[in-house]
Amino acid sequence: MKIVFVFVFSAIAVVSGLEIEKPKNEYLLARNDAEPDWWQTAVFYQIYPRSFKDSDNDGIGDIRGIIDKLPHLYDMKVTAVWLSPIFTSPQVDQGYDISDYYSIDPDYGTLDDLRELVDKAHELDIKIVLDFVPNHTSDQHEWFQESVNNATGEFGDYYVWRDCEKDEDGIVTPPNNWLSHFGGSAWEYNEERDQCYLHQFAAAQPDLNFNNPDVVTAIELVLTYWLEFGIDGFRCDAVGYLFEDPEFRDEPLSNIPDVGEDEHDYLDHIYTADQPQTYDMIYQWRELLDSFTETNQSDTKVMMTETYTSIENTLLYYGLSNGTRKGAHFAFNFNFITKIAKGFNVEDLTACISEWLDNLPSIYTSNWVLGNHDVNRVATRFGTEYIDAFNMLTAFLPGVMVTYNGEEIGMENGEVTCEQGHDPRAINDCSTFNETSRDFARTPFHWDNTTNAGFNDGATPWLPVSEKYLDVNLADQDVRALSSHYNVYKELLQFRSTLSRMEDLDEVTMVSLSDNVIQIIRQNKAFHVSLVFNVGEDEEAVEFNHWEGDYVVAITTIDSSYSSGDFIENGTLFLNPYESIVIHNTVVSGGPSAIQVLSYLVLLCSGVTMSLF
Ligand code: NOJ
Ligand code: MG
Repeated sequence: MKIVFVFVFSAIAVVSGLEIEKPKNEYLLARNDAEPDWWQTAVFYQIYPRSFKDSDNDGIGDIRGIIDKLPHLYDMKVTAVWLSPIFTSPQVDQGYDISDYYSIDPDYGTLDDLRELVDKAHELDIKIVLDFVPNHTSDQHEWFQESVNNATGEFGDYYVWRDCEKDEDGIVTPPNNWLSHFGGSAWEYNEERDQCYLHQFAAAQPDLNFNNPDVVTAIELVLTYWLEFGIDGFRCDAVGYLFEDPEFRDEPLSNIPDVGEDEHDYLDHIYTADQPQTYDMIYQWRELLDSFTETNQSDTKVMMTETYTSIENTLLYYGLSNGTRKGAHFAFNFNFITKIAKGFNVEDLTACISEWLDNLPSIYTSNWVLGNHDVNRVATRFGTEYIDAFNMLTAFLPGVMVTYNGEEIGMENGEVTCEQGHDPRAINDCSTFNETSRDFARTPFHWDNTTNAGFNDGATPWLPVSEKYLDVNLADQDVRALSSHYNVYKELLQFRSTLSRMEDLDEVTMVSLSDNVIQIIRQNKAFHVSLVFNVGEDEEAVEFNHWEGDYVVAITTIDSSYSSGDFIENGTLFLNPYESIVIHNTVVSGGPSAIQVLSYLVLLCSGVTMSLF
């Protein structure tokens, strides 16, 4: 199989009758010939446990709450769930500061609760992926406590310690100019050890020293423990920061305008991010996962990595381009988060998608991330009018789809004041809280229109429930045949499962149909399925790139004048502002796979119908 990716900015002209001129500038990316493995076409649904469902009414979401809501996960037909951290933690960074990798924080429940969740999810064919936070621990972790107490002992070298100066006035001169993600120096002075330790995030999150083989072994034991527990893989947190420059050199200025000297972006992170040793560590973890899978004859244990970095580095997290060393099954593709913003146009969208498809080596599986607990929600980033269209894009493009909880109903950012906030990146400076806080994307899930949006039975939630829950909640949207974001989302997932059965649907083409309308085509020799998206605020009539025969509407955004099953004649579409629509051809143009394609069509249509009624 192969992906043909075509990048065309100008409209495609009709040359004769129903024939369409083939787009120019084609080039090929060969693709893996093997049957897709479970994760390669998966929908990964990120649950932020603290805000999902609070079963014991203590204001904090918990594992039993997730168990209670398994029917929702099953209803959506997500393949896998990724849980943000549930391990024992002082919660300085909402669980990304782990004080014991082997136990569950009492806020979330017990190991038995997790056992039950994994078992019940597996019965429903839903995989469970845990967050794995190897770069740093909590300063309350016993490794750190021991490291502080005994510089020459077993744990003395578990963290990144350097000498630093403290003068009579208590002013500390750090070992170098490195900055923390959450602002200020990345070094913290420790009185007891009379040294500074490195923390690339909060001071309560000391960085582990991966140059120490004992740390490498200790972290591998964590992976093995959870694999043996029966989880299906790991989302690996902040892996770009595992290693630092061995010479601890100052980093150069980034020269990004309007960035204060305390802000992380003030420096160009050539010595603290994506160091060469990092990739090898990731490849070793992949070997560990693969050998576990092989020894236990289990389903593939998956690894997905989180790095906000260049495309070149991101691809190195996948592995070497010739496949001789493999890393993550997929390294998050954050292009929909980092490469486009409110007010984007067709050109921006095309560039955002093509940068990824253009560079991903053929042996690797693509992925599309729309949001997470660290960034503003889609409805807030782009506007509520784009909710369905972005779910549609990530569902339609080849490979893995990653959804953050709440995006299936189009939740917007919540309302949180600085006093109510918890994000360590934001709460120390209320003057910039609105710009820097990640709390807005973390407010409780809107289940229904009852007290606290059904999050719990009335106890004050750890973050306030957004006042928008009366207008946007699952119960209201989960009504059969209602045109709702949730029903669009479910149709998309149903449609994806049909697409993924079409193994030879092997070409991706992008065409600008007008200044505001993009057509993305996935096709094989006989079948053509397209997403046509009007990114603009005006109605558009466009001639789309089509083959002979009729086209049928599969899925539309909620404000469409089309319904699924409608026939589109003459290759012309009338699109409302911001409308996006998935269409496919009905006539098979011959070739050896005609019968196969006809059966695909039956599946496809029945899939869409099933999800509607
Ligand atoms: C990335 C996580 O997604 C974020 O929430 C956290 O603050 C940092 N890593 C540090 O663990
Ligand atoms: Mg609770």
